[in-house]
Amino acid sequence: MKIKVTKVDPEQMKPKPEDESQLGFGKIFADYFFIVEYDREKGWHNASIEPLRPLSLDPAAMCLHYGQEIFEGMKAYRGKNGSIYLFRPEENINRMNRSAKRLCMAQIDNDLFMEGLKKLVLLEKDWIPRGAGTSLYIRPTMIATEPALGVHPSGQYIFYIIAGPVGAYYPEGFSPTKIYVSEKYVRAAQGGVGDCKAAGNYAASLYAGQEALEMGYTQVLWLDARERKYVEEVGTSNIFFVIGDDLITPPLSGSILPGVTRDSVIRLAKSWGVNVREERLSMDEILSSSADGTLKEAFASGTAAVVSPVGQIYYRGSEYIIGDGSTGPLTEKLYNEILQIQYGEKEDPFGWRVKIS
Ligand code: COI
Repeated sequence: MKIKVTKVDPEQMKPKPEDESQLGFGKIFADYFFIVEYDREKGWHNASIEPLRPLSLDPAAMCLHYGQEIFEGMKAYRGKNGSIYLFRPEENINRMNRSAKRLCMAQIDNDLFMEGLKKLVLLEKDWIPRGAGTSLYIRPTMIATEPALGVHPSGQYIFYIIAGPVGAYYPEGFSPTKIYVSEKYVRAAQGGVGDCKAAGNYAASLYAGQEALEMGYTQVLWLDARERKYVEEVGTSNIFFVIGDDLITPPLSGSILPGVTRDSVIRLAKSWGVNVREERLSMDEILSSSADGTLKEAFASGTAAVVSPVGQIYYRGSEYIIGDGSTGPLTEKLYNEILQIQYGEKEDPFGWRVKIS
């Protein structure tokens, strides 16, 4: 399908941020977006890259009522040599289509997604920041647009991609965060949509997140819905613990998002000879390993957060320090390795990097 490109009038281009150390996350948006429409009769049609503008939606659009809304998180990186890279983009495209299937939404053509993505990033090239740890965050999104109030899958969708320059996701940057174990609220239950990137999962997480913030913690550590015993995720990221010499993360049991960074961490660590265990890990085991000194490190992994150390856990009225509370050596090694692969500074043994310019 041909993607029609409408250029922004140079006079209307937005000013680029001057201080890349103050980018924060998700507050600044670049000049263009990619958009394509779908309906049952025509399939995907009207693909275009246009100046970023508000969407016009019928107030009865189904995404506004029944939550058929899925998204992805990706980044474009500027290497020191000026090259531009994506990181494992096919993984995000495939996950988007798995989310679409579970939420009865339209499947997006992989090639159209990839072409729209690459064209958009190349047009927005000057928005990709240069500072260490900065990137162009990319947000592919699909929403149901059929105006209808009966509860059934929408027959119309739009898929769009917006982008904007970002720095670190957490205000702490790469400093260890403090996390709060929620026993009262859960993120997702098996059989639900916790393994999809569905907007509703994030809405469901806000209340507990707010509670954590009020208590002085950055994020919630989510437990399983059934027994409230086993760790599942942290905030909007996957979670890893180093206990003894093992790297442990919960298995993809249906309520956990199959993170692209999670998979990259597992594969890198295994390639270094680390014993990686994808196993259920209970709070009891975390507390006993804290007591006997074998709980050495913990970190969150995600596209936005990359690898983000956890320094402290609050659970049932007590605080538990992880290791000595500072960033552990494996956390740091994984963070450095992943960033160096993403920015083209290191050999890419797994073929994860996609150079687009
Ligand atoms: C990501 O890591 O890209 C995410 O989608 C998490 C978040 C910002 C919602």
